[in-house]
Amino acid sequence: MKKIIKTAYQLAKDVRDHAYAPYSGFKVGAALVVKDSDKIYTGCNVENASYGATICAERNALWHAIAQDGKQPYESIVIVSDSKPPVPPCALCLQVLVEFCPSTLDIYLGTLDTIEQHYILKELLPYPFDVDKLPK
Ligand code: THU
Repeated sequence: MKKIIKTAYQLAKDVRDHAYAPYSGFKVGAALVVKDSDKIYTGCNVENASYGATICAERNALWHAIAQDGKQPYESIVIVSDSKPPVPPCALCLQVLVEFCPSTLDIYLGTLDTIEQHYILKELLPYPFDVDKLPK
């Protein structure tokens, strides 16, 4: 496994400690890796009493990346939770990833021990909503 993915795994695990999850108790960390670079942006889930305003770790990492340095080409994301098997991104996060990432984005799913699974984005969301495919 590439060194940058190991680094991203550690960062995702570390940022997971910052998760604010008093309602579900389920903490998640994510680390988004920029293509051909050593830049990594992290995010954790932040819940809200309204539930609906909760943000997942994956979207938080993406918003963090865009706010910090603007949109860039991303090549992978590592997601860490205390779940065996590890959790994939929710459908909302997958649709958001489609907006900013290639369909070949590498998605690594980790437990607190290690990375256990690998997918690419189009495997997890083969039929995303695509505004370019709407009838004209
Ligand atoms: N959550 C994430 O942060 N990422 C996922 O991929 C799945 C779910 C969060 C949202 C909520 O704070 C908690 O996990 C339980 O759903």
